[in-house]
Amino acid sequence: MAGLEKSMAVKWQVYTSADELPEDQQELLREAELALDKAYAPYSNFHVGAAVRLDNGEILSGGNFENAAYPMCLCAERTTLAAVVSTKPDSIVKQMAIRVRNPERPVEEPAAPCGACRQVLVETEGKQKGNIQILLQGETGPVYVLSSAKVLLPFYFDGSFL
Ligand code: THU
Repeated sequence: MAGLEKSMAVKWQVYTSADELPEDQQELLREAELALDKAYAPYSNFHVGAAVRLDNGEILSGGNFENAAYPMCLCAERTTLAAVVSTKPDSIVKQMAIRVRNPERPVEEPAAPCGACRQVLVETEGKQKGNIQILLQGETGPVYVLSSAKVLLPFYFDGSFL
């Protein structure tokens, strides 16, 4: 007998270029692009930049931070969220923009955050009781706008299970 089938819809907005977005979102994408230069990625050579806008309007950003012991690598999303909790622990993260750069070939599509970063973003949403709008773009090309980290991780684990 077949089990009861269930489904979850994942919805996001696609813009063909950043020019179509409001100025605050364009600014955050530019800051994430600048943050590509903060990446320390001598092993993968894959640069990731993330920028967040806080509830007071301030922007913080970070890049990925790799390690010769590969599993210790920190993603840009998490170095940026660490900057938030270490410098502005009471602030609310309203938006995060994520950009990527691969010196081997132009990245023309948005790259999605890894599973670990999705989990940390969902935890941050729970901590602050507010969604984080996520903006994704490669070096060029379309921009994806997601209303929450939970769009990236619909089947999430959180403190309600503990
Ligand atoms: N990386 C990020 O910074 N964010 C992600 O969401 C995916 C991967 C980094 C980790 C590593 O330094 C490099 O990209 C290649 O995996």
